[in-house]
Amino acid sequence: MKKIYLHPLPIRIWHWVNALGFIILILTGAQIRFGNVIHLFSFETAVDIHSWTGFILIANYCIWLFYYLVTGNIKIYIPPLHHPIEFAKKAVTQAKFYGLGIMVGDQNPHHSTFDHKFNPMQQVSYLMIMAALIPVQIITGLFLWDPNLFGPIVNLIGGIQIADMIHVLLFIFFSAFIIVHFYLATLGHTPMAHIIAMFTGYEEEHEEHGHGREEEHGHSQGH
Ligand code: HEM
Repeated sequence: MKKIYLHPLPIRIWHWVNALGFIILILTGAQIRFGNVIHLFSFETAVDIHSWTGFILIANYCIWLFYYLVTGNIKIYIPPLHHPIEFAKKAVTQAKFYGLGIMVGDQNPHHSTFDHKFNPMQQVSYLMIMAALIPVQIITGLFLWDPNLFGPIVNLIGGIQIADMIHVLLFIFFSAFIIVHFYLATLGHTPMAHIIAMFTGYEEEHEEHGHGREEEHGHSQGH
């Protein structure tokens, strides 16, 4: 058994504040949008909690951004664009592992290290979420929070209804993401391995699971 350092403290703090905040935003957002079928809070309470949590998560997002830009470690999020074919092949291998290999005892083809933490599927999805979807959710959220303050920009994108539609579509995406992300987070060498690592910083890895690309041993029933 060896221990690999994966998650630095600022990222662990960001991650769990973010996860808790997202759950609160999803519940209060559902109340605001679908108040006719959901009765968790009053509309006013839901709006208040939603706005406060939104502002906390904006500050929290800045921690994530600051850490990754200042350390230069943002590179772990950037797919290797100079090797697109190789990258696509690895992504397919990873998808096959999640779709089939994992059920028949294959080893995970990706071996995480601090500088090479994400498999190709994580790299693409996390980059899209952190660099595009969360910023768009923040901006449309600010528009909805005070449409008058941002009036001219809101008009530029076609009015507050467009901002609302984008915000709700992303709400649906994030609600689905959190379920898939939670499932994938339980697929370490034990169901809690990845989750504990996000608390302690260290992932414990069994030696026989340690060297991802051992395709020739692919069907070892090693769990
Ligand atoms: C129930 C809630 C959640 C759980 C249990 C959870 C679990 C985990 C775990 C175990 C990891 C480390 C393994 C990996 O890199 O995939 C991780 C990383 C990550 N999660 Fe989550 N997560 C949750 C919510 C969220 C939410 C709501 C978001 C964003 C919308 C998110 C975004 C990320 C990102 C971007 C990483 C990579 C962080 C980095 O190392 O830079 N997670 N999550």
